[in-house]
Amino acid sequence: MCSILTDEEEDDTFIKPGFELVTPRNTYMVGQLLGVGGFGDVFQVSCKDKDGQTVDYALKVEKQKENRHSKLKMEIAILKACNDCNHFTKIVDRGKRDELGGYFFIIMELVGKTIGDMAKKHPNGVFSFVTALGVGSQCLEGIESLHKHEYIHRDIKPANFAIGLPPKQHIVYVLDFGIARKFTNFKNEVKTPRQRVAFKGTLRFCALACHQGVELGRKDDCESILYLILSVLVVGGLPWDVENRHDVWRIKEECRREKRSELFRGIRRAKELHLFMDYIDSLAYQDQVDYDFLYKILALSCTEVGADINDPYEWESMEDVKKRKKKTNCKKKEGKKISKKGKI
Ligand SMILES: Nc1ncnc2c1ncn2[C@@H]1O[C@H](COP(=O)(O)OP(=O)(O)OP(=O)(O)O)[C@@H](O)[C@H]1O
Ligand SMILES: [Mg+2]
Repeated sequence: MCSILTDEEEDDTFIKPGFELVTPRNTYMVGQLLGVGGFGDVFQVSCKDKDGQTVDYALKVEKQKENRHSKLKMEIAILKACNDCNHFTKIVDRGKRDELGGYFFIIMELVGKTIGDMAKKHPNGVFSFVTALGVGSQCLEGIESLHKHEYIHRDIKPANFAIGLPPKQHIVYVLDFGIARKFTNFKNEVKTPRQRVAFKGTLRFCALACHQGVELGRKDDCESILYLILSVLVVGGLPWDVENRHDVWRIKEECRREKRSELFRGIRRAKELHLFMDYIDSLAYQDQVDYDFLYKILALSCTEVGADINDPYEWESMEDVKKRKKKTNCKKKEGKKISKKGKI
């Protein structure tokens, strides 16, 4: 499911497995294609480290086009800004090449399968209650860090989050900042919202504000996180088909009223997720999000079913759990901050 990019068209794959990318830093042998996106391709690559050991990374490439800005430049700016948070892949190399018509590239930490692909492998295409909420809580941690650096993501969906490779299978990574946007101006104030905003994002997961054609804020990323959690938790998924944009909008609205129970159908405990939705719906474009309130209600929901939100995920073996070091997340690294509801 690709994002809808109003002003972009898909590129053909131009780098192929077997291609050798030589940079001043290293030589990367292109391997398997990992993903084809709206404006670039992602490959597994391997190279030798300084001790002569083979190491694998991910390569993201974007063809240079005369009439458009490079989306990879935005990705690089964000990955650099969020470098201190363990929900973001580390950049190991980057640059621009003139061969093959010109292209931009990033070499970054290789991660595992996306949340969407992981869910598809599970019975009924869903995770257990605790895995779904645990993963959702980590997606929120990554997005909180992105917001702290004054960007909103605008394309939150299970294909844009992935789990780490062993021994990092308990870490969720945020991917894809292709349509992220800085929400502050040069004075670090929240930008004045534009009167009319063209649709950008992914129909199934986008916030109501996106359908309404109004400016998206931090709360809208959080609304999409709620849809992400429900999509990997509720058997049968979200109660809207993506055939028609207006129907999706209408059903999302109805899920606030008469169809509310349909959105949360069949799950072990829905009370806190209702609170999550009510809280997000109470916020306006410029509002700060009380992330701690959201972490607390997700954790409480797990406690209420007799579990812990930090319990091992379904794909972690006991061996992995033993090996897993004490969880260090961005909040611990950056110092726990109690956010206040209100405007910045
Ligand atoms: N660091 C990485 N390690 C492993 N796989 C990755 C990595 N980055 C991206 N991928 C894979 O490539 C896919 C596409 O990457 P990404 O979402 O960043 O690109 P995109 O061009 O913006 O895609 P789209 O327009 O479809 O959202 C991801 O869904 C994921 O499967
Ligand atoms: Mg993507």
